[in-house]
Amino acid sequence: HSLLSALLFLEMMSLEEMGISCELLELDFLKCSVGFPFMRSKSKYEFSVIFDTSHLSGEEEVLSFIVTAQSGNMERSESLHDNTLVLMVPLMHEVDTSITGIMSPTSFVYGESVDAANFIQLDDLECHFQPINITLQVYNTGPSTLPGSSVSISFPNRLSSGGAEIFHVQEMVVGQEKGNCSFQKNPTPCIIPQEQENIFHTIFAFFTKSGRKVLDCEKPGISCLTAHCNFSALAKEESRTIDIYMLLNTEILKKDSSSVIQFMSRAKVKVDPALRVVEIAHGNPEEVTVVFEALHNLEPRGYVVGWIIAISLLVGILIFLLLAVLLWKVSLAIVPTHGCPALLPFQGGRSILLDLPSWHWYSEGH
Ligand SMILES: *[C@@H]1O[C@H](CO)[C@@H](O)[C@H](O)[C@H]1NC(C)=O
Ligand SMILES: *[C@@H]1O[C@H](CO)[C@@H](O)[C@H](O)[C@H]1NC(C)=O
Ligand SMILES: *[C@@H]1O[C@H](CO)[C@@H](O)[C@H](O)[C@H]1NC(C)=O
Repeated sequence: HSLLSALLFLEMMSLEEMGISCELLELDFLKCSVGFPFMRSKSKYEFSVIFDTSHLSGEEEVLSFIVTAQSGNMERSESLHDNTLVLMVPLMHEVDTSITGIMSPTSFVYGESVDAANFIQLDDLECHFQPINITLQVYNTGPSTLPGSSVSISFPNRLSSGGAEIFHVQEMVVGQEKGNCSFQKNPTPCIIPQEQENIFHTIFAFFTKSGRKVLDCEKPGISCLTAHCNFSALAKEESRTIDIYMLLNTEILKKDSSSVIQFMSRAKVKVDPALRVVEIAHGNPEEVTVVFEALHNLEPRGYVVGWIIAISLLVGILIFLLLAVLLWKVSLAIVPTHGCPALLPFQGGRSILLDLPSWHWYSEGH
């Protein structure tokens, strides 16, 4: 009842006709007279009172109304117990949250011949890293204040199951320090996968370096890195940002055979139901997908070119020789001459003689 000051009492039009009149005695005290001048024995009045809740601050957990009936007559003390009623209305915060996100850069080129100055190196680590920034923004359309929420973000972290981790999250910062994030730190940010020493493998990889690989955390079998952030209260029509600074180990990409690798990261905002928050159904989307692409420059390494030329030359010469021999043989006419006995081995120690035509090279002079 202490909240009545924030509630606006709206009197019902029909109350007067029923002999009911209400007046606000104090800001939180409403008094209604029922059945003036008297109430007949065993009679019942039904009436409703409407309150406007649009002025509530959203701080309250429940609205409680204490309703007390009091008679002008003397009432027996043993029948007083049912004269008081406590009505409780739990309050929910109804919000419509949305999330948006941008990446910087949205694509980059990697490969052996790409200038190392495009990448950064961490102290005493050999790897070339591509810095990537993601900025996410959570917005509360209202109508209520959002008392608490959390955001989860997942990045595809391996090119294949069992592969090395690609990302190294350096920092996650929530705007105005109104939230905290937790993520798993990559203990070994610089892993250079073992070089395939076999030159044929390298050449094969060069020729098969085609096609697009899509890494999407929604797909089964994709290993993802997930980070979580908790936000403190977000007022209506306010927004909060999360800045994520991370590094991508390009050494791992160089060993992959795709020419384009697309990373699809997903972020989702969730309201905390324990804080009596409900998300408006069919409101703005609570999920966002941010995409960036790693493009291979498709230039083979120097020695690979050498090997490709050498092997091509060798294969060319072999084919030429084969054709030459074949043509030389075909150009000779083949004719059978006289019979020539052939001795065939026969099981049981015996032999049989067969008279087979033999082949004779026909040429001038014979
Ligand atoms: C990422 O953000 C930092 C700090 O704002 C900035 O210095 C850096 O240039 C950004 N990097 C990219 C790739 O946008
Ligand atoms: C974040 O952490 C700090 C210190 O650990 C704490 O004071 C603050 O309440 C936390 N904020 C949220 C939104 O969890
Ligand atoms: C966020 O809140 C959940 C539940 O209250 C808690 O388990 C988790 O540790 C919090 N995370 C951070 C980064 O504060």
